[in-house]
Amino acid sequence: MPLGCARRKASCGSGGARGHPATLAGALSSPIRENPNIDRPTSNSGWRDGWRGADNVSMPTSTISSTTPPIRIVRPAIDAAGIADHARFADTRRRMIAGLEKLDNDDVDLGRLARLRESLPDEPTLDPDRVTDAWLDNAIIAHAAAELLRPKRALEIGVRRGFASCAIVTGFDDVEMHLMDSWRPVYSDRPNPGPVLLREQLKAVGHHANAHFHQGNSHILLPQLFGQDPLLKFDLVVVDGDHTESGADADLRDVFPHVAPGGVVIFDDLIHPQHRYLLDLWHRWRDTLAGEFDFAEYLDDGLGVGWALRRR
Ligand SMILES: C[S@@+](CC[C@H](N)C(=O)[O-])C[C@H]1O[C@@H](n2cnc3c(N)ncnc32)[C@H](O)[C@@H]1O
Repeated sequence: MPLGCARRKASCGSGGARGHPATLAGALSSPIRENPNIDRPTSNSGWRDGWRGADNVSMPTSTISSTTPPIRIVRPAIDAAGIADHARFADTRRRMIAGLEKLDNDDVDLGRLARLRESLPDEPTLDPDRVTDAWLDNAIIAHAAAELLRPKRALEIGVRRGFASCAIVTGFDDVEMHLMDSWRPVYSDRPNPGPVLLREQLKAVGHHANAHFHQGNSHILLPQLFGQDPLLKFDLVVVDGDHTESGADADLRDVFPHVAPGGVVIFDDLIHPQHRYLLDLWHRWRDTLAGEFDFAEYLDDGLGVGWALRRR
């Protein structure tokens, strides 16, 4: 088991190789395999304190004696398991709840909020490090990733009423949002109103960067978007649109090459009872891209979610 997998219950790393290539460039052809086990930082002590990403900071030496070596603070890189750790802090969840309560939520999303509230400790805890054992879903992973990564640009494929998109914004409100959905008028027996509602939802959670609405079929729109701008990169992508095996595979295939270094892809519904193939599909991508992305997943409860962080 890779080192990072030991933390909490999010599992990560490689599975058995299944004949997929190890690089995006070769994703369609050569069956190269790489050992995905990498050394990962084990400290998560800084993640809730507002530092953002991996960097080494040398403190100014002017006030320090000339014989004193510069103080070097080495901050651990964020890894995929670290996003789950951050998602389990009660305070992370409280911040997301406080934001998403402001939305015009339907019964589905009210149910998700209720579950999140239930996952909070009964008593306020004096221990800021407290990590709950709570369940994870795409929205809390997206929110935690946004808090940690402070994405410049994010994309959600399959937006519906914007619960996960707004979870990103509650994590970091200065993110350029790209919302892609066919917004067929009824989805899962409920109204699916589209951009008019979504503008209000984004406003409600204090979004103050550009929002781009891409209405239509992702299998047409994604190739168009990346065809027009082959260098376009996203720091955070949620894939939750077409749930057929070939459709979800196509969305992942389209977006993986456009994830910025240090960025993350979140893939929902790994153990959805109606889409059992999605877990195998995710694992095939994990086997393909383990050399370039750090994969993790949560399968203990709910519908399951996977995420993959592109190594720098
Ligand atoms: C499960 S819902 C998304 C839920 C949302 N991600 C959230 O967490 O609240 C799936 C959405 O994907 C959209 N969708 C399904 N297939 C699509 C496709 N091929 N292209 C674009 N959108 C699609 C549906 O219209 C629906 O709104």
